[in-house]
Amino acid sequence: MSANNTNTSAYSDFHLQYIAGEWQKGKDDSVNTNTNPYNGDELVKIQQATEEQLNEAYEAASQAQQEWAKQTPAARAAVLYNVVNILDQRQEEIIDWLIKESGSTRIKATVELSTARAITLEAATFPNRVHGEIRPSNTPDKENFIYREPIGVVAVISPWNFPLHLTQRSIAPALALGNAVVLKPASDTPVTGGLLLAKVFEEAGLPKGLLNVVVGSGSEIGDAIVEHKTPSLVSFTGSTSVGKHIGELANGGEYIKKVALELGGNSPFVVLKDADIDQAVKAAAFGKFLHQGQICIAINRIIVEDALYDDFVTRFLEHVKTLQVGDPDKMETAVGPIINEKQVKSLKDKIAKAQEEGAKMILSGEIKGQVVPPHIFTDVTREMDLSRNEVFGPLVGIIRAKDEDDALSIANDSMYGLSSAVFTQDLAKGLRFARGIKAGMTHINDISVNDDSNAPFGGEKNSGIGRFNGEWVLEEFTRLHWISVQHQPREYPF
Ligand code: TAP
Repeated sequence: MSANNTNTSAYSDFHLQYIAGEWQKGKDDSVNTNTNPYNGDELVKIQQATEEQLNEAYEAASQAQQEWAKQTPAARAAVLYNVVNILDQRQEEIIDWLIKESGSTRIKATVELSTARAITLEAATFPNRVHGEIRPSNTPDKENFIYREPIGVVAVISPWNFPLHLTQRSIAPALALGNAVVLKPASDTPVTGGLLLAKVFEEAGLPKGLLNVVVGSGSEIGDAIVEHKTPSLVSFTGSTSVGKHIGELANGGEYIKKVALELGGNSPFVVLKDADIDQAVKAAAFGKFLHQGQICIAINRIIVEDALYDDFVTRFLEHVKTLQVGDPDKMETAVGPIINEKQVKSLKDKIAKAQEEGAKMILSGEIKGQVVPPHIFTDVTREMDLSRNEVFGPLVGIIRAKDEDDALSIANDSMYGLSSAVFTQDLAKGLRFARGIKAGMTHINDISVNDDSNAPFGGEKNSGIGRFNGEWVLEEFTRLHWISVQHQPREYPF
């Protein structure tokens, strides 16, 4: 089917695996029953993949990669541009899947599609941005050439929260740079995190075998994906605990490989006393409750300087009370369902723990099915569970800081260092404060939730290693090869 055909029928066959360019049935006895987190409707049943099918995927990827790496930059870029066109043509279909499979609100699904599109467009430029170097040598008559080559086969393991974007953020650059991919999407989002993208790339004309989607449970098939001899790089996005395990496996097993780990966060949102409070309140609500707070860069702690604290709390509470909660398919819904029952249970435990620890719950509401309404806590201290750990849900604690120094000390009091934000009307102060934060990303007068396809995305400390986007991901998904040429016979000491 042509990428320019505007009369496309909806994709189907999401009950199959995509291996070696063929849609085939999983051979494992276990079945992934994919359901809508809002109403429990069954979307598709997928027979899971076996290790034998995983081997087949790696074999196909390894074979296909060799030819793909030889393609001209223009040929590889063309596939990526086709993907962009297909994402545009099929935007309603993709948004619909994001809503029904991942519980995305319409607002979030639209944001997600646009970020996935942006990274694809950026990746389409990569084939023409790869370049080597020539360096002088200290050995007479020698020349040093530094080649930048595809890394080979990349294993991608992705999460359920922004499944389309966070998967595409790895596979689009990987493929653009001449690599092949074996992808395992999260079990909660096998379609939007994998199979749907396979359909898009297939339609875009990607040669067979370059993208393989293996649907299986992380606890069953995950280790085999990482330990396999074929991948040279494992690109993992998910929790810090699983990320640590993957890091150990990738470097402690028989075959050493590179890892790129995008893990958990605990983003501070700091409101200094000279902030534009109306703007800070609106930003805090959007940066906290977008996708029900299930974003690694979502605001996890709101830290407000003493002079503004009471005013901020009053206005934030008023504003959050106006947010519509419920059916994610409705245009006006701001807060939809939580991805699964396990996450709902973890949020209920966090609500109970916050109260036990002495936080004051100033907003709550009935939890209906998997819909958890916003919960706001005040009198929160840096020692409490709400401050120390990633919430990954629509609950937030507001911490009082004595002054700017205290706010910075609280902001940095975390084992994570992914994103962060500070509100102030004094730009010099904002920059000083931002540079004091130990995180990969800090946004002044904006939310912590930002991802620009040409700015380095990634974290410090337990938030992971590596950077996405722009030339940073280009380096991550390629390897360097130093080749020297001795032009005249060299004198050796013996
Ligand atoms: P995880 O449980 O870590 O799952 C992420 C992926 O890892 C899923 O595909 C999962 O498969 C797989 N997995 C689980 N156990 C595995 C194993 N032993 N070996 C290999 N793969 C395994 O996280 P989650 O529940 O999807 O997402 C929540 C967490 O991820 C949060 O902490 C959040 O901060 C973090 N996160 C971080 C980022 C970034 S950009 N830093 C983005 C999104 C999420 P199954 O689904 O089959 O278990």
